[in-house]
Amino acid sequence: MSHSLPRPRRSVLFVPATNEKAIAKLASLACDTVIFDLEDAVLPKHKASARDRLAQFFAARPAGAREYVVRINGLKSAWGVDDLAAASGWNADGVVLPKIETPRDLLEANDVLDEADAPDTFKLWAMIETPRALVNLAAIAELGRDPAARLSCLIAGLNDLAKDTGVKLTPDRRYLQPWLMQMVLCARAGGVDMLDSVSNDFRDLDAFAAECGEAAAMGFSGKTVIHPAQIGPANVAFSPSVAALAEARAVVDAFALPENASSGVISLGGKMVERLHLAEAERLLARAAQLESLRH
Ligand code: COA
Ligand code: MG
Repeated sequence: MSHSLPRPRRSVLFVPATNEKAIAKLASLACDTVIFDLEDAVLPKHKASARDRLAQFFAARPAGAREYVVRINGLKSAWGVDDLAAASGWNADGVVLPKIETPRDLLEANDVLDEADAPDTFKLWAMIETPRALVNLAAIAELGRDPAARLSCLIAGLNDLAKDTGVKLTPDRRYLQPWLMQMVLCARAGGVDMLDSVSNDFRDLDAFAAECGEAAAMGFSGKTVIHPAQIGPANVAFSPSVAALAEARAVVDAFALPENASSGVISLGGKMVERLHLAEAERLLARAAQLESLRH
């Protein structure tokens, strides 16, 4: 397996930091990443005890490859600065900043982490869920090009975005398509992951699987999920399919033929295939091998 491949973030599960039953269930779940939520899923009167609960969790962080991050309260709220100061000392992989609006919001959080001597491996994630964040998205995502800025991942937050813009959330997400595609484009330009929003209707798993399939086709890195039942469909949609793997192997095999050794472009099954497709095929096969090794 290639160690240069970024870790998968196919299914990224929100867990309210106050939900003991949900925390207890984590060991049995197959999500790639956990986001413990201190923000909207926690009532004001429980903010402090929720923070204490996470300190306790990270003091005994389970072994394994899974990534654990914490969504803190907004830095302008009454709890955000204390959340960030506390989280910077935990054995977490990073924090998710809610409701950011400008690159400066990320840089300010980054300064706090630097001052707290948080390790370089402690990353910043950000929710893209305000109209201003969407307008400033290219500049926000560009921070991904500066390793000192710690930016690793962006998350679409459609519930807040719908609330603040008046856009109607329909099952086919038709009015949101331009914004969703812009998010993927900017994140790729900045070299960071882009996660699709949560889907609130966690009982309709057929609709959810279809939405995950569309998100994968749109270029998202993975899906944020709110319920254990959503993990499986997200993992399937963001893993290489059997057909895609077969196609990738055919491309690799074709370029390995002696007669193609010095060809930049070949014909395979009636289609033009270039060396960029070879690179893509090799990346897909490496990802499949990585996912297989993570299962063990
Ligand atoms: N993480 C881990 N386990 C979870 C979970 C989650 N996010 N959501 C539910 N579970 C567990 C339940 O504790 C229950 O466990 P059990 O089998 O031991 O009884 C099991 O999965 C089935 O849960 P279910 O009864 O179907 O759902 P619920 O009514 O308990 O919870 C929600 C529904 C929506 C309240 C809950 O899924 C949730 O809080 N999700 C996260 C919400 C969140 O973080 N929002 C903020 C970001 S958008
Ligand atoms: Mg939100």
